[in-house]
Parts: sequence; C-alpha cells; structure tokens
Amino acid sequence: MRDFPLVILFSGNGSNMQNLYEQLHHKEFMGLRLCVCAVLCNNENAYGITRAKALGARCLIISHHHKTRHEFETQLLQALKPFAPKLCILAGFMRILSPHFLQHYPAINIHPSLLPLFKGAHALKESFESNMKIAGVSVHWVSVELDSGAIIDQAAFHREETPTFESFEQKIHALEYELYPRAVLQALQQSFLKADME
Ligand code: GRF
Repeated sequence: MRDFPLVILFSGNGSNMQNLYEQLHHKEFMGLRLCVCAVLCNNENAYGITRAKALGARCLIISHHHKTRHEFETQLLQALKPFAPKLCILAGFMRILSPHFLQHYPAINIHPSLLPLFKGAHALKESFESNMKIAGVSVHWVSVELDSGAIIDQAAFHREETPTFESFEQKIHALEYELYPRAVLQALQQSFLKADME
C-alpha cells in the first residue's frame, strides 16, 4: 500500500499534534497508508517536543529567531523537502505562513473559534468574553489572509455548559481532539476529489 506523507507543525504544548499523530499515523484511508513522516516545531523550548519524542515521531526543530519570514520559510522548505509532504497540518503553529511557503505545500489549521468570528491570537479569550450563546472550533485551509481560508469543518457547543474560563478552554480542547483528525480526512477527500476533476 502506498504511503501518503503528512507533516504536523506546532509551537507549544503540542496536545493536538499528539492527538493527530495517535489518530492518523499509519491509518489506512482511501487505499493509502497515512504517514506522519515528521513533526516540526519552531520553538526549542516547546513541551510538544517531549511529546513527539515519547511518540517516536521524527521531530524537526527550526527556530524562527533572528530570521526574516522569508529566511525562516526557506529553512522550513529545505527541512520538509526530503519528506515530500502532501499536506501540512498546523496544530498550534504560531507563525504566519506566506505564499513563499504555501505555493509548495497546501496547509490546514485549527482555530479555537467559530470562524469568521474572533480571528487572531486571542480567539479563546474573545470568544469566552463575548455575549454569544454558542462557541466552537474551526478547521480551515490556510490562505494568505490570517484565519480566512475556506472552512473544512466546525463544531459548536452551548456556552451555558462552561461558566468558567477553565471549563470553556477544556471544552474547546476536547472538541478540537474530536474534530481535527476527522477534518484532516475531509480535507484529503476534498483535495482528491478536486484532483480527480482536473
Ligand atoms: C489550540 O487551541 C489551537 O486551536 C490553537 O492553538 C492551540 C494549540 O494547543 N491554534 P496545543 O498546542 O495543541 O495543545
């Protein structure tokens, strides 16, 4: 069976990276064997690196410090090239990717709000503090504009279930772990179908 190479990019805690690895690595899908051939982190102090080692994942560390966006992305591209990933899965990756990177690899991202609401780095807090009755998470294609690419899937819950910020955050993470692996498969299906139609 043919391997289908994926990479996961993260910056910090890495709980989504771990969950994706556990759910997707070596899974059979549409006649292919999904293979998380590497995970990549831009922060050498990230706890996710410890998780990656425990998983036995190939972990690449490329710091963005003292580099222009272009230099950093050139290094990412060089590091990823040997793996020829078909898709980059961003899981708490806190750097914006420019067309310089995105023209080489399609990427998807998870965001802790119901997009297009609460884009940006403070989504969790803004969503918690809003007067909305529902909240949720979104998985979307990465485009040049921050948190604005086509939405692949979303999951929502009623705010009244989570009165404190801690319970709200926990619920968001629980939804992320459920949604993201499923949305990766949806994204792959979408891109296969698109490739078929071309
Ligand atoms: C997640 O909440 C994700 O939605 C956001 O960053 C967080 C990463 O958490 N983009 P973790 O590193 O996966 O634990």
